[in-house]
Amino acid sequence: MRTTSLTLLAAALALALSACGDRAAVDDAATPTTADVPRESTPDVSPPPYVPADDAPASAVAALAATAGNTTAGELRFAAVDGGVHITGQVTGLEPGTEHGFHVHETGDCSAPDGSSAGGHFNPAGTAHGRVGGAAHHAGDTGNITADGAGVAQVDTRLEGVTLGDDAATDVIGKGVIVHADPDDYTTQPTGNAGARLACGVIGPGA
Ligand code: CU
Ligand code: ZN
Repeated sequence: MRTTSLTLLAAALALALSACGDRAAVDDAATPTTADVPRESTPDVSPPPYVPADDAPASAVAALAATAGNTTAGELRFAAVDGGVHITGQVTGLEPGTEHGFHVHETGDCSAPDGSSAGGHFNPAGTAHGRVGGAAHHAGDTGNITADGAGVAQVDTRLEGVTLGDDAATDVIGKGVIVHADPDDYTTQPTGNAGARLACGVIGPGA
């Protein structure tokens, strides 16, 4: 009984080994060796804009309210993307066809009637003022927004070098957002000469 079992086992093993050997020989002939095959293909084009960040929190929002004597308001959404934060939304109550400086400011405090409590441009890296995408700029710098014929600006822009909800020095949650009376010239230090503050908001966690 015992001898028979061992014999059968040995026979089965021999069969299995020979089958493996045959298959390996066929596979070797049919496919290139692993040295010829890259482990992972690497993309040969740059990624599209607004790639979601790996560990992005859901989102953030800001409601813009008019400063004293103004009628500008708005709703903004913020999403973490590769290299920064994507801002979308709408700003209303602007003069038709006008251009306006638009920044994240260092303090999430809109209590002053003129919005001055929001402080200067968010600038955790201590750089010069400029334009997003340019050589040197504040983390809170972005592009001007432009009002349509109805005085409404559609916002679709980004911040570079900032984060969302990670409590790092670059985190924009809890910071301010300002819409200015004049366009940012992207040159004048440290404000871009964008003039008075028409609306102010505070960036808070999204739903
Ligand atoms: Cu500003
Ligand atoms: Zn700036």
